[in-house]
Amino acid sequence: MDVPSREFVLAGSLEELKARGRLVVHGGHRPILVICDRGRVFALDNRCPHMGFPLERGSVEDGILTCHWHHARFDLQSGCTFDLWADDVPISPVELRNGQVWVKTTFGHADPAAHWRQRLADGLAHDLGLVIAKAVHGQLASDVPQADIVRQAALFGALNRDGWGVGLTILTALANLLPMLPEEEAYLALFHGARHVAADCDGETPRRERAPLDSRPDPAALKRWLRRWTTVRHREAAERTLLTAIAAGVPPAMLADTLLAASTERAFADTGHTLDFINKAFECLDLIGWEHAVTVLPTVVGQMVAARGAEESTAWRQPVDLVALCDEAANELPQLFAAGCSVHGWSDHSPLAQELLGDEPVRIIDALKAAIRAGAAPADLSRSLAYGAALRVARFGNANEHADWETAHHVFTYVNALHQMLKRIGTAHTDEHVTAARGVLHGAMALYLTRYLNVPPARIPGEGGEQLDGLPADVETIRAALLDAFDRQRQVDLAARLVARHLKLGHSPQALIATLARAALREDAGFHAYQMLEAGIRQFTVWGNTDEGQHILIAVARYLAAHSPTERAALQTADIARRLMRGGELHQEEGASS
Ligand code: FES
Repeated sequence: MDVPSREFVLAGSLEELKARGRLVVHGGHRPILVICDRGRVFALDNRCPHMGFPLERGSVEDGILTCHWHHARFDLQSGCTFDLWADDVPISPVELRNGQVWVKTTFGHADPAAHWRQRLADGLAHDLGLVIAKAVHGQLASDVPQADIVRQAALFGALNRDGWGVGLTILTALANLLPMLPEEEAYLALFHGARHVAADCDGETPRRERAPLDSRPDPAALKRWLRRWTTVRHREAAERTLLTAIAAGVPPAMLADTLLAASTERAFADTGHTLDFINKAFECLDLIGWEHAVTVLPTVVGQMVAARGAEESTAWRQPVDLVALCDEAANELPQLFAAGCSVHGWSDHSPLAQELLGDEPVRIIDALKAAIRAGAAPADLSRSLAYGAALRVARFGNANEHADWETAHHVFTYVNALHQMLKRIGTAHTDEHVTAARGVLHGAMALYLTRYLNVPPARIPGEGGEQLDGLPADVETIRAALLDAFDRQRQVDLAARLVARHLKLGHSPQALIATLARAALREDAGFHAYQMLEAGIRQFTVWGNTDEGQHILIAVARYLAAHSPTERAALQTADIARRLMRGGELHQEEGASS
């Protein structure tokens, strides 16, 4: 058949190609390199899959094309790379007709969603950031639901590492924010989440499955056992107990209560990370489906049983024995909640938060007891605690050491996790959740111990009659000024003032949240920055656009500003992947094309 389909274009005569060795066909979705090597003709995307350098400028030897930029090597026939970091180069069908070379100009896959799913699997397995970015972009462009991408990365992370890690925490935190993110930020969020999971698993020992017990003891016994195994650091026993609870069909709220009770056997375990990881594992299952509980939940057990508790630290023992204070109060919790359960309508969250920021640990504990007697549920207490911890960040004094931001951050993310867990547990099992409510006492003491971070306190913008009139007023100018502030170091107070300005003018909180997300997602952010962003936004949604809500977003902005800018290398990778996926030329230099 001599009549070519419309998908094919004429590249040139075979004679010309043989004489020149290579030709480039322009137009269409992307430039195509046509190469004649030892009598055979091949066509490939002319843009190196690594960073887009024109492959026509590379060299061919023994069937291998070498890019002349970073020297990635490709099999001419298949386009497959010998250098995994560079990715495979797409190839194009070639037809020879009456001495002329025709090439197909459209690139594609029979099942794009399946292709990009496999590429994400490859990228995760070999920790290839560029491949991960392209695969996330490709899946989104193929209308794969965001939750499917989260599920693939989460299950990879759960199975390819012997325990929950920061990658899964970042993935879950960012996935929680997806419904609030514009398209570009959603792509970045999925990319960052997946790449951190891959990095976490790189070189790690895969997880070994354990089995539930053959019996099905009642949930109360399983809860007691999990606490016991946690106390004696018996990981296998703890995992089998948890797996038995899952196999027995114990509902998520009771599983949450069981794990929270076990994790609070130690005070503020691993500076709060233990509880944060547990909460994130539950949130991960909300996102990817509870049918994966057997795979995901046991991943938190190893870290939980190995964690160090605050009771081992001097600060919690001297000059005041805070652990003893917590233990004493914990013994009273059943009676206190019993007394308060008949009282309804408690809503003093904000005043309680101010009391929790006090200087006297006994008075802080007394304030919590009084609130419980007055009808506050555990989730009410943790809500106050989370606001108090956000105020620590919002008022973080600039004279503190930079590392102290993490001290403030640890308390905030711990109490946010506690709040989410206590909300999940609810009040359906009042007798049972009392143990888990010990976390409130631990959180309150952790907050007390960070009081020095607010000496002297930073001023909250707008307080004391401070005028913000000199700042921009319209949404877009405030956004630009905020992002500009994040472009420079130590713009903590300016970022806070711009956030206050935006909210006090009544602009949309969603627009501000999108800007803060953009600021974090364009950086090579650390684990804590993602946690702070997500915890802050979650707590803001509890309060809404009130003074308290504004203080919480000010805290987020101040923390992010203190950690910006970074090199933004990951953003560059994401940008290159997107530009390669969208087609067009990435590098056009004079004389580079024929
Ligand atoms: S190896 Fe080709 S652009 Fe880097």
